[in-house]
Amino acid sequence: MTGIGIRHYDHHDAARLRPLLLEVYAEAYADVIETDPFASVDRSAEGLVGWSAKPDWSCVVGHDSNGQAVGYAYGAPLPADARWWRGLLTEVPADVVAETGTRTYALSELMVRTPWRKTGTARRLHDALLAQRTEERATLLVDQTHPKVHALYQSWGWATLGDLSPRLPDAPLFHTMLLPLPDQVGPR
Ligand SMILES: CC(C)(COP(=O)(O)OP(=O)(O)OC[C@H]1O[C@@H](n2cnc3c(N)ncnc32)[C@H](O)[C@@H]1OP(=O)(O)O)[C@@H](O)C(=O)NCCC(=O)NCCS
Repeated sequence: MTGIGIRHYDHHDAARLRPLLLEVYAEAYADVIETDPFASVDRSAEGLVGWSAKPDWSCVVGHDSNGQAVGYAYGAPLPADARWWRGLLTEVPADVVAETGTRTYALSELMVRTPWRKTGTARRLHDALLAQRTEERATLLVDQTHPKVHALYQSWGWATLGDLSPRLPDAPLFHTMLLPLPDQVGPR
């Protein structure tokens, strides 16, 4: 399997990208989309519309040598009044979850098609997305019933902050994690 090319997108590209992102989602989550209402394609589409409407939404898509999408990652900065932390169940000092609008980048989705698992592609997409960010840190949620994914993120440098369950119907219990971001590209 040869290497992939990575393309960067922003919210202007979102409407055009949406069908492709949902197609990859349906394949990457094929094992759970029928049984887990939180993981349904419709819920994913709602999430994608919400996230990609944010002006600072960013996305990377990996393509193989035939131009086929092999996976993607996207996210956006948390706003100052971030709903993200309202589902936090672990007590932490208030300054840990104080947002400014430019402090924390939320990595909302990362997935790769099955043939591209265990090839380093997921890590490359993750690194490419975060390398463009100017926030001081990133956050993500990982389902607590997926300990191997949690361990994978730990191996990539993420630290667990606590338990979080978004205030949304059927939401599972997540670990919320943080990753410090180096000042790679300077202020925009
Ligand atoms: C998460 C992901 C991007 C990581 O890709 P990768 O770096 O190539 O790593 P792997 O695919 O080998 O995953 C690491 C381990 O986690 C497990 N895993 C991955 N996704 C999982 C999921 N959604 N549910 C349960 N276990 C999962 C894998 O089976 C693997 O376990 P193994 O080593 O026993 O085979 C990729 O597995 C994926 O696209 N998964 C589906 C989407 C997903 O869960 N995204 C993460 C949301 S926080």
